[in-house]
Amino acid sequence: MDNELQLAADELIVSKTDLQGTITYCNRVFMRITGYSAADVLGRPHTVIRHPGMPRGVFRHMWETIEQGNEYCGFVKNRTSGNDAYWCFSVVTPDYDSKGRRRGYFAVQRRARREAIASITPIYDQMLAVERRCPKAEAPAASLRWLRDHLAEQDTEYEPFIIMLQRGETI
Ligand SMILES: Cc1cc2nc3c(=O)[nH]c(=O)nc-3n(C[C@H](O)[C@H](O)[C@H](O)COP(=O)(O)O)c2cc1C
Repeated sequence: MDNELQLAADELIVSKTDLQGTITYCNRVFMRITGYSAADVLGRPHTVIRHPGMPRGVFRHMWETIEQGNEYCGFVKNRTSGNDAYWCFSVVTPDYDSKGRRRGYFAVQRRARREAIASITPIYDQMLAVERRCPKAEAPAASLRWLRDHLAEQDTEYEPFIIMLQRGETI
């Protein structure tokens, strides 16, 4: 249980959703790593692979970013059908039709650096602790506020911090 799987350096997990986050496409790497077939996940919410170690505030930030038409990047821990876990560096971006109307989102996920996972894990643990202290409805906003304050204390913001971790730079 909760054994950790590793993505190979050249592997990319691709998934697409509608505007609500319901899965409309997944590639073969997604199926191999998660252990789900296309039939298992198409039409289901992307939460199907949510890992309980992921703070809700991270997804609040993801949705705020992509609903504003921007690209989100971040570290996501997911859970496979066999209850194993895998970390990835995830980029999620809006998907438009030929008339320029937003029709959904797509995600490309690649291997996260070990050092980045080691840095983000205690931050996520603190966000989870903030969430446990709040009523459920307020938890995502509260932990996201904590994260933004925490990064501001280090003179940085979410996106430059994440990119710095994935590149292996230090503050
Ligand atoms: C394109 C796309 C990809 C996503 N990928 C993941 C993912 O890999 N893991 C995950 O837990 N949530 C992912 N999400 C976010 C989920 O939709 C959902 O917000 C999240 O699992 C948290 O669940 P909750 O909103 O019920 O708290 C993705 C959303 C989109 C639009």
